[in-house]
This record gives sequence, C-alpha cells and structure tokens, in this order.
Amino acid sequence: MVKIAPSVLSANFANLQKDINSIKDYCEYIHYDVMDGHFVPNVSFGYSILNDLNKICDNYLDVHLMISDPLKYAQNFIDAGADLVTFHYEAMNHEKDIHELIQYLHDHHVDAGISIKPQTPVEVLLPFLDDVDLVLVMSVEPGFGGQSFIPSAIDKIQKLCDLRGARTYLIEVDGGINAVTAKMCRDAGVDVLVAGSYIFKEKDRKKYIEALR
Ligand code: DX5
Ligand code: ZN
Repeated sequence: MVKIAPSVLSANFANLQKDINSIKDYCEYIHYDVMDGHFVPNVSFGYSILNDLNKICDNYLDVHLMISDPLKYAQNFIDAGADLVTFHYEAMNHEKDIHELIQYLHDHHVDAGISIKPQTPVEVLLPFLDDVDLVLVMSVEPGFGGQSFIPSAIDKIQKLCDLRGARTYLIEVDGGINAVTAKMCRDAGVDVLVAGSYIFKEKDRKKYIEALR
C-alpha cells in the first residue's frame, strides 16, 4: 500500500499544531520542505521547527532538503529528529561527496534519500541506487507548492521500478499530486506520495488523504 506524506509547506504556520493534528493519524510520513533561497528561489523553514514537530507527532519525518551544501546542515536535521534526509543530486558537485553524505546519514542511523529535478534523468542516479533508502522524483520544479504535475515523472517512476531488482529503495514523488495524478503514479509503481495543497486546502483532510491511496 502506498504511503502518504503531507507536505507541511502548505500548512498554516501560525497554527501548525492544529494542522499536524488534523493529518497525523491518517498518514505514514510527514514531508518537511527546506528551502534556502539559493538552491531554489524560495525560503521556507529550518531545523528548529522540525525539532518542535518531532515532539507533537510520531510520524516518520521525511526531510526534503532543497539547499546548497546539504552536508553542512545534515547534522542539524538529524538532531532535530529527521528519520529520512533527502538531498538533491543537483546540489552536489562530486560523486564522492554524494557517497560521503549517504554514509554520514547511515552512520547516524538516519535513512538517506536522493532527489532529481524534472530535467535530470534517472540514469545519473545509477552509482547510488545500491546505497540509498529512497529516491524522490520531483514532478514540479522545486521551490513552490501548488504547481501542476509534470507527466515525465511517470516514466522516471517506471524506470526506477525496473531498475530496482533486489535493491530496497522506495520511490517517492513530489509536486502536483491530486487524486488523478496519484493514480497515475500508483499505476507506475510509486511507494510514497507527497501532497501539499491538495490535502491542506481542504477541511476534511482524512477524506482527501484517503482519496490518494
Ligand atoms: C515543492 C515541494 C513540495 C510541495 C508540493 O518544491 O518539494 O513538497 O510542497 O506541493 P503541492 O502538493 O502543492 O504541489
Ligand atoms: Zn518536497
């Protein structure tokens, strides 16, 4: 069964506890989008809010770092309670740095995820697929919630399924997920669906979460 990861980016930050309480019993993950205004043209939040979220829910905390130099900040997110830290392939300059970051996360008992933007082909991930716990396929340009799903994500999900073989990574998709695009992704073999505006713009969040399964 697919796992659902509501994205906190679409929550009401002045009422975060109430919004977390409205979803936490119905979803497996909570998706936490970190943006630095450098890797992406938007700024969201840092690790101190994650630390507070960790105290009010037991969900698996799925941290999506849309930042330059993720290795520099990984420890802060680990300390704040991340269960998974996903960084961007495009934020890294050398293959050896990617291996180092994955190893660093594993040494600290945190799952390691790697993400690709819509223009980046799946093949660049081949050297890392044996080591990562999750691959995050971006189905919008990272930076903002509420954008439309880019259909090329479907081919990437299928390709990652075909490539998996005996490997154990999960495939997650992020951006423009609603009941229709969720079904397309499920049919392609996705394991985790991130959804922000689709869930948080509605009052009956349980119903909208269930509509994605
Ligand atoms: C985009 C973020 C997404 C975003 C998705 O940069 O990574 O997690 O919150 O939002 P929706 O579901 O509204 O497209
Ligand atoms: Zn995200």
